[in-house]
Amino acid sequence: MQDLKFPSSFQWGVATSSYQIEGAVNEGGRAPSIWDTFSHQPGKVDNNDTGDVACDHYHRWQSDLDLIKALGVDAYRFSIAWPRVQPLGSGAWNPAGLAFYDRLTDGLLERGITPHVTLYHWDLPQALQDNGGWTSRDTAKRFADYAQTMAERLGDRAVSFSTHNEPWVTAVLGNQTGLFAPGLKDPVIARRVAHHLLLSHGLALRAIRAAGVKAALGIVLNQSPATPATSSAEDVALAAREYALLVRWFAEPLLLGRYPTAPDLPVCEAIEPGDLETIAQPLDFLGINYYTRIWSSTSNPPVPAPHAQGTSDMGWENYPEGLTELLCGLKRDYPLPPVFITENGLANRDVLVDGKVDDQPRIEYMRTHLSALKAAIDAGVDVRGFFYWSLMDNFEWSSGYAKRFGLVHVDYQTQVRTPKESAHWYRRFIEQQRRA
Ligand code: FCB
Repeated sequence: MQDLKFPSSFQWGVATSSYQIEGAVNEGGRAPSIWDTFSHQPGKVDNNDTGDVACDHYHRWQSDLDLIKALGVDAYRFSIAWPRVQPLGSGAWNPAGLAFYDRLTDGLLERGITPHVTLYHWDLPQALQDNGGWTSRDTAKRFADYAQTMAERLGDRAVSFSTHNEPWVTAVLGNQTGLFAPGLKDPVIARRVAHHLLLSHGLALRAIRAAGVKAALGIVLNQSPATPATSSAEDVALAAREYALLVRWFAEPLLLGRYPTAPDLPVCEAIEPGDLETIAQPLDFLGINYYTRIWSSTSNPPVPAPHAQGTSDMGWENYPEGLTELLCGLKRDYPLPPVFITENGLANRDVLVDGKVDDQPRIEYMRTHLSALKAAIDAGVDVRGFFYWSLMDNFEWSSGYAKRFGLVHVDYQTQVRTPKESAHWYRRFIEQQRRA
């Protein structure tokens, strides 16, 4: 890693999200979110795990911030649980919830760590879902109010606000395949939801800027390049369609002010005049979450992806080159704002032996992905920072606690945290970057 020198202003960080770590779902005035409802339905989450306790971060936030500091990172990306600060998603604010995120933000600054806030990482107040959730245009307006209030509240201390984390996941996994909350299975609804998420992003950016908040504003998209399994015209066409459905669907309205004309994306009836202008607000940055590529095969049975560089415990192919391909493709196709890699990481079958977790596959994943990221920077992509997903093992949505992404191991019986070998590796890597 000696030769891998990132720009000196590059930000090194770790990321988490509220529902995945906080627990304390019935404390401090918090109301239920759609993930509370969903995870309590039998069979929705592996092992019927829920986020009721999670990493108990709501109570252990101070020692968790000490853990972050011990990693030697510059920055921490966390999300705000909307139902903790505004329990019903409209109307009254909850002072105890607001105070929690004030303390967290101050605690980061006291430790010399820069706060990066995500406003929506999937825990919609259940009360809003009961009124239609993201299928309703009104939710976009509620979100803009919430976003403005939080940005005014924390904007003197947080350096960035991302409106949404992975709107594709909310739309498709939440409303088309039903694998995630709220568990609906309707492609027409999914397209409405996607449009309202994007609209809410644009409304929020406008409102936050009008309020005079100076922090950088952006959005986080999950993206992958799509590789045709063979050079057949069918596979090449499938790869183009799959790329459109993951990347272009969200990147184009945001960066070009129009939806792509793709056969699988019929025009959504929820679009109203002026919406695309609202959506295409200037972005101070784009957050990108990268884990793996799409492998596009039309054969029956499909040609399997090579998995030559290993497979994560999620079953995802390790394909670091995909990060370079993705970023260079985005730079080629769009007027790209500065980029942050807001998530990248590996689920590994970690085991704690004699107080140690020797997670060599995670170190290898980080090493190869950072080198792929450097290649994109060398090719001219303006990348400003990297956040490893995740600080610690946590509630991995429909996989429950079985999948471990953390740099820090969590024993869910005792809540004992143990930094893994990868945590030590990351700390040394960052130290080297500072020295070089
Ligand atoms: C992303 C999510 C994050 C985490 C990782 C593994 O899609 O944003 O919360 O679950 O995947």
